[in-house]
Amino acid sequence: MHRRTFLASLAGLVAAGPATAQMKYDMGGMNGHGGHNMPKTATNPILPEGQPLRALPRLSNQSAVPGVFKAKLAAEPGFVRFADGLDTPVLLYNGTNPVIEASEGDTVEISFENRIPGEPTTIHWHGMPVPADQDGNPTDPVASGEERIYAFELPEGSAASYWFHPHPHGLTAEQVYRGLAGIFLVKPKNDPIPPDYGDTVLMLTDLRIAADGTMPESTMADLMNGRVGDHVLVNGQKNPAMAVARGEKRRIRLYNATNARFLRLAFENASMTVIGTDGGLIEAPVAVNELLLTPAERVELIVSFDKPGEAKLTTLDYERGWMGPGKPNEAGMILLTANVSEEATAAMPPLPAKLRTIEPLGTPAVTRRFVLTESMGGMDHGSMTMSGMDHSSMSLSSDSMGMKFLINGASFDMNRIDEVSKVGQVELWEIVNEADMDHPFHVHGTQFQITEHEKDGKVSMPSYRAWKDTVNITAGETVRILLRQDLPGPRMYHCHILEHEQLGMMGTIDIQA
Ligand code: C2O
Ligand code: CU
Ligand code: CU
Repeated sequence: MHRRTFLASLAGLVAAGPATAQMKYDMGGMNGHGGHNMPKTATNPILPEGQPLRALPRLSNQSAVPGVFKAKLAAEPGFVRFADGLDTPVLLYNGTNPVIEASEGDTVEISFENRIPGEPTTIHWHGMPVPADQDGNPTDPVASGEERIYAFELPEGSAASYWFHPHPHGLTAEQVYRGLAGIFLVKPKNDPIPPDYGDTVLMLTDLRIAADGTMPESTMADLMNGRVGDHVLVNGQKNPAMAVARGEKRRIRLYNATNARFLRLAFENASMTVIGTDGGLIEAPVAVNELLLTPAERVELIVSFDKPGEAKLTTLDYERGWMGPGKPNEAGMILLTANVSEEATAAMPPLPAKLRTIEPLGTPAVTRRFVLTESMGGMDHGSMTMSGMDHSSMSLSSDSMGMKFLINGASFDMNRIDEVSKVGQVELWEIVNEADMDHPFHVHGTQFQITEHEKDGKVSMPSYRAWKDTVNITAGETVRILLRQDLPGPRMYHCHILEHEQLGMMGTIDIQA
């Protein structure tokens, strides 16, 4: 049983019994006391810190045929032991959220089973160039108890740090915060990064856990701002430890797999060099002191550990336009601690100066404009108070207090096509944020190039060309991107604060052959 293997590999972190598969996934019964916006009590669970960083398990390939990756995935209820003595009911893929690792040129076939009682789900392959009917769109739900096959090919040049998560209409935010998300690594045929640097995947998630170990339901503040947890976890662990030798360089992939957490990150006592973004390597390494990783974004780094002692991955403050009370303290969280030895490592090969070529997308044939707005259903959000509200009466639906997040004045409708485009057509998209908070904007099915940021009349260009599928649009900002869809079919674009996506900030573009 894979669950048994997982148990063993987590050395007690996870508790699952033989009854796991039969466990009833009872969301209605989870009453969230001790939650995020409630007064903290001494009984709030304490998560262990400083345990050795674990690598996420890999999904094994069931095919012996070269160039074919075949496996089974099931979305199912389970338990994770985040805090001592408390089993938290969660949803996981195969009980472990395994990493899928395949190579450019591979054919992928995933047999998927939805074992979530009473809820539809899908698997969306975030950022990947998969056919529209294989991309887990909300219009293609897999009903509870049903199976389907997701099949696609990984084209040459598609190597990147992708991920996958559910995308069922109205249920995405909850299924993701309850645990469903996984990493999909596509490896290149020829990797310019020295293998000596390793390849460390760090998946960042956000956990809110009540005194009884359950995950409280979302509150009004969660719907408005996106659900932010109490603990940012790395591969499911709080501030895990990693041993490195002085002088070591590590390739580290950071994934923001949280619903809504803006992560402005710095690595104290170590130096960071960006080598890749959402859609793979950039052209040349770029040294940075800090970086902002908004929900769904990924970055590939080379981290050089040149000073002995502790090197900590920490968060810095970020102003993303929080509404109402309960603004989390973003600064000063320690996500990961590297213990750097006194003794130096053997010399490491240098990082190449040139990583790849990214051709500019060229002259756009059409321009589209997407205006992001918020509507609070007549309530003045400046004076809105959350204290004393009984969150048990709130549901995460589009009529939640009339709160709506809109694109071009419209709320998402599965049965409406908002835009029509053509396969292979280069387009300029202008995303205008007229709302009071930042919105990380994501497009399905392709990767884009950011050409301009404009705010208060000032225009700036990104300092390097990169492939992206998610870009943060700050309040009052306009971002211009170039993109091209190479496959036909309907594709979603939306805010990747998943509660905003759920409350309407999503649209559909139909790409015609
Ligand atoms: Cu992570 Cu609609 O996507
Ligand atoms: Cu996506
Ligand atoms: Cu948003």
